[in-house]
Amino acid sequence: MKQEKQKGCDSRNVDRRSFLTGLAAASVGVAVSPTLYAANTAGAGGASAIAPTLPTAGKSPLTTLNNGVEMPVLGVGCFNLPTIQTADVIHFALINGYRLVDTAKNYGNEKEVGEGIVRSGVPRSELFITTKLWIEDFGYDEALRAFDRSVNELGLDYLDLYLLHWPVPTDFAKTIAAYKALEKLYADKRIRAIGVSNFNPEHLRMLTEQTEVVPVLNQIELHPFFAQQAAREANEQRGIKTESWSPIGGGFITLPKDPTNIVRLLEERTIVELGQKYRKMPAQIVLRWHIQHGFIAIPKSQHYERLLANIAIFDFELSADEMASVDALNRDLRAGPDPELFDVPAFRAILERRRAGV
Ligand SMILES: NC(=O)c1ccc[n+]([C@@H]2O[C@H](COP(=O)([O-])OP(=O)(O)OC[C@H]3O[C@@H](n4cnc5c(N)ncnc54)[C@H](OP(=O)(O)O)[C@@H]3O)[C@@H](O)[C@H]2O)c1
Repeated sequence: MKQEKQKGCDSRNVDRRSFLTGLAAASVGVAVSPTLYAANTAGAGGASAIAPTLPTAGKSPLTTLNNGVEMPVLGVGCFNLPTIQTADVIHFALINGYRLVDTAKNYGNEKEVGEGIVRSGVPRSELFITTKLWIEDFGYDEALRAFDRSVNELGLDYLDLYLLHWPVPTDFAKTIAAYKALEKLYADKRIRAIGVSNFNPEHLRMLTEQTEVVPVLNQIELHPFFAQQAAREANEQRGIKTESWSPIGGGFITLPKDPTNIVRLLEERTIVELGQKYRKMPAQIVLRWHIQHGFIAIPKSQHYERLLANIAIFDFELSADEMASVDALNRDLRAGPDPELFDVPAFRAILERRRAGV
């Protein structure tokens, strides 16, 4: 019997539709093949000596943004999701409790995210969908047109959250013009909340001095190796929530600065040992750290058992000492680009390096 249950949740043993339907029907108490679990933890975080409890589907609590809108504190990220899998992943996430989806025009998968949303059957009013305005669409009119394209691709008539994807410090006037377009869309009730991403304290200062609507959040690279204390404080002083991208250090794997020496946050001893103590995966410990700090986190996974695990973090709590031990891992080590040096040519150079594999 036990064998059968595990088999039924291993996507290699059943066709995709039965797998998804089976999990949806049993939205709690889902069994995951230990073999599959071990294979997946070994790749990214290392298996612990004591097996973690099996991940079960969960629901994220909500947080209230500075304009009164409520938003889940945990969602699913869409960067680097293979296009062919995106609709399945989003469908799976939504039927298993996720309500927040973080995508971007630049990820090239808004259409597939929209397909996953429709297939899930989850009422629109329950969802919180974020997408981002890409820097090549900055400027007022350009931004309004890009918004229309994004909502069309997603198949939505309004967005929950629209973010400026990066500031462009070499042309900040265009960054301001783009944000003013977001303010117009917000006033027209086409977006429930507007915000920014990758804004340093200085970028935030310049933005808030020249615009009316305070961003609801600032989505920045943030994980235990890159604690971003100054950015967190600058956000907090203005009533802006901090949202963590690459919350479990995925950027070190997808954008390695040195492919021969990949940084692996989830193999860090402190995190692995806390995982053993709480019988949780290393990623769950790190996600718990984000939530207890009051951040919003959007881990990405294209593995179903990891999607289940990443949202099953609301049944345990790290102590103050344990939080401090994870805080102490900070190395001020970023995986992604420095926002101060980011613009269209810098982005194209990154793409070139990725294509060349260096
Ligand atoms: N605003 C921005 O500029 C910006 C930049 C980057 C990212 N983002 C957003 O933030 C989201 C998350 O960031 P990210 O995708 O860079 O990194 P991440 O979520 O920190 O990590 C993703 C990586 O961790 C693996 N993983 C997921 N769950 C795991 C688990 N439970 N155990 C072990 N490994 C696990 C994933 O592998 P598998 O998929 O193979 O499971 C993937 O390699 C993005 O998807 C995107 O929505 C925003």
